[in-house]
Amino acid sequence: MSATHKIYFYPVWLRVWHAINALGILILIITGISMQSDMDSNVIGFNMTVNLHNIAGVVIFVSYFAFFIGNLVTNNGRFYLIKMKGFFKRPIKQGMFYVWGMFHGEKYPFPLSEKRKFNPLQKYFYVLVMYLAVPVVIVTGLALLFPEIIIDKVYGISGVFMTAILHSAMGFFISIFLIIHLYIASVGKSPLENYKSMITGWHHV
Ligand code: HEM
Repeated sequence: MSATHKIYFYPVWLRVWHAINALGILILIITGISMQSDMDSNVIGFNMTVNLHNIAGVVIFVSYFAFFIGNLVTNNGRFYLIKMKGFFKRPIKQGMFYVWGMFHGEKYPFPLSEKRKFNPLQKYFYVLVMYLAVPVVIVTGLALLFPEIIIDKVYGISGVFMTAILHSAMGFFISIFLIIHLYIASVGKSPLENYKSMITGWHHV
């Protein structure tokens, strides 16, 4: 193996999905927050904001299928499988590296390879966001688009209210994920290395 070994981590379908997903989620976060804020200060108007939010939501819904099926039928899905061995130990080790090791010249605890695209902590976050948060946001979002399908009352509390709370909470989780994601993606040989990989498909190890 040469010093500048390259691995083709991000096939075209994954990069196209990721670009659509990133743009769509950014629009959802911005329009979602502005819908909750003071209507008078809303630049494009409330109705336009709601329309944009709904359109971006439908785009995310459709593109999610591409991600889900892509991970089922290609090899990419194997990177999302979590091993029971070292379930807590491995992500903790990676976490320690992020808060201490990387500032003290320690070696990367889980070097990337053909078999390992994500470190254990990154994998947990990707699984949580892609197989829990995004699906829940999609399902609750669709339900809020067609509120007549929502159960009237759950334990005496309005079903629409509970759906909206769940939708906002997951949206909040995705927003926090995105901030951490952008920071973690900048950790590497150089801050732009991972961003370049997401454009070219190739990752240098
Ligand atoms: C401006 C927005 C975004 C940028 C610049 C960005 C950047 C990146 C980069 C550089 C990578 C490759 C390196 C790595 O794995 O850390 C990546 C991978 C990934 N991103 Fe993002 N991201 C963005 C938004 C999002 C959002 C909103 C989500 C999910 C809701 C997301 C989910 C993922 C996933 C699941 C991967 C791994 C894909 C795979 O290899 O299977 N990203 N992103």
